[in-house]
Amino acid sequence: MAFPALARDFRWGVATSSYQIEGAVDEDGRGPSIWDTFCRVPGAVVGGENGDVACDHYHRVPEDVDIIAGLGVDTYRFSLAWPRIQPGGRGPANAAGVAFYDRLVDTLLDRGITPWITLYHWDLPQELEDAGGWPARDTAYRFADYAELAHDALGDRVVHWTTLNEPWCSAMLGYENGIHAPGRKDFGAAMHAVHHLLLGHGLAAARIRERHTGPLELGITLNTGHFVPATDSEADREARRIADGLSNRIYLDPLVHGRYPEDVTADLAARGVTMPVQDGDLEIISAPLDILGINYYSSHRSSGTDENGATTGEDGLPVVRSVPYGRPRTAMDWEIVPEGLTDLLTRLHDDYGLPMIITENGAAFDDVAEEDGSVHDADRTAYLVDHIGAVAAAREAGVDMRGYFAWSLFDNFEWAEGYAKRFGIVRVDYDTQRRTVKDSGRWFADSVRLTREAGEGTAG
Ligand code: FCB
Repeated sequence: MAFPALARDFRWGVATSSYQIEGAVDEDGRGPSIWDTFCRVPGAVVGGENGDVACDHYHRVPEDVDIIAGLGVDTYRFSLAWPRIQPGGRGPANAAGVAFYDRLVDTLLDRGITPWITLYHWDLPQELEDAGGWPARDTAYRFADYAELAHDALGDRVVHWTTLNEPWCSAMLGYENGIHAPGRKDFGAAMHAVHHLLLGHGLAAARIRERHTGPLELGITLNTGHFVPATDSEADREARRIADGLSNRIYLDPLVHGRYPEDVTADLAARGVTMPVQDGDLEIISAPLDILGINYYSSHRSSGTDENGATTGEDGLPVVRSVPYGRPRTAMDWEIVPEGLTDLLTRLHDDYGLPMIITENGAAFDDVAEEDGSVHDADRTAYLVDHIGAVAAAREAGVDMRGYFAWSLFDNFEWAEGYAKRFGIVRVDYDTQRRTVKDSGRWFADSVRLTREAGEGTAG
């Protein structure tokens, strides 16, 4: 199916991340990351699974790039494993680790596919966590050094650079509720992590800009949440304000406007937390971005009351929870709310005015594979139809949308959910490592082709 609003000047891609697909965790000098450690914590990951082998992508680059080329997309978004490039998170580059990404980039370029690099998709070198992790300011400087090494190695061929993937997850899931690596549970540490992630972004962006010659598209990817008040009550509107503040504005206001939102810092102060801002940090963080990456999966209705109608929790804090829309759900139990994506993009355009690209969107469903590996995943196709349609609607409404990347190219290691949740448009049989394009992948490839064709021959 064609999406005429996306026919011109629009990038189509598929996305993955290093720890979720590469495997080969102790080859060619790679050091341990916080995810290698976290996966060993009993109960941390469903089934006690880990990324030791994952999709074995490290050993299958030619085959995997063939699959990407076969889908007809123009761009492949992947992340570099920091502990392959700097095994302990500091010091010189590990040549063997760099060589892997060198080969990957060259293989992509040979096939006419544009590499889109994410520098940090959550695999912090364990040694840096041992030294304090993201709550410690020094990690931001270490990240900038790593970005420089990565850019020195690949910047002659790679135009598109994303500093961080979803700093909200790194900070909140990693340091506040401990669902993700490194599994700490300390709200104050999580807020310090927010600032140091943003500072790391700004320092890394400056290093890349200083060194880069030729065209460059530099950005950050956020999993901005779309929140609506469940009702018009004051408590629900307040819950929405708090949720939006901690999910969206605490990142976007410093990145775009060079300041933390006052209501959020006041809420934090009431909880005894101050952002560890030093002179000059906000100038570094707010250097202009070329593009904002958006990862979208679902939306949230915010309620400011608990099941009993109370507006304050046992901890003395205002109640903030999500209540259902009453929509069908994916296998992640996430509600399917495509129009939330149009509303989110419109709001981000109005408030922040940056060009945007969907760097992740997709869905896990309980796939049933046929003998030959094929998967008739009409549910995933329907999800993609509706969400790409939502991007088209935003573009028609005047939002500057530059592209769409499906999450994910492959079924892969879905973090704390292990291998049980399958997001791929290509199935991976983990026993044999056989890859099979699912029906949704065929639909995606056809739609990319038909959409491009719809743009050919039209003026403008
Ligand atoms: C995002 C992550 C990505 C994947 C999807 C389902 O939060 O960036 O790695 O796990 O969710």
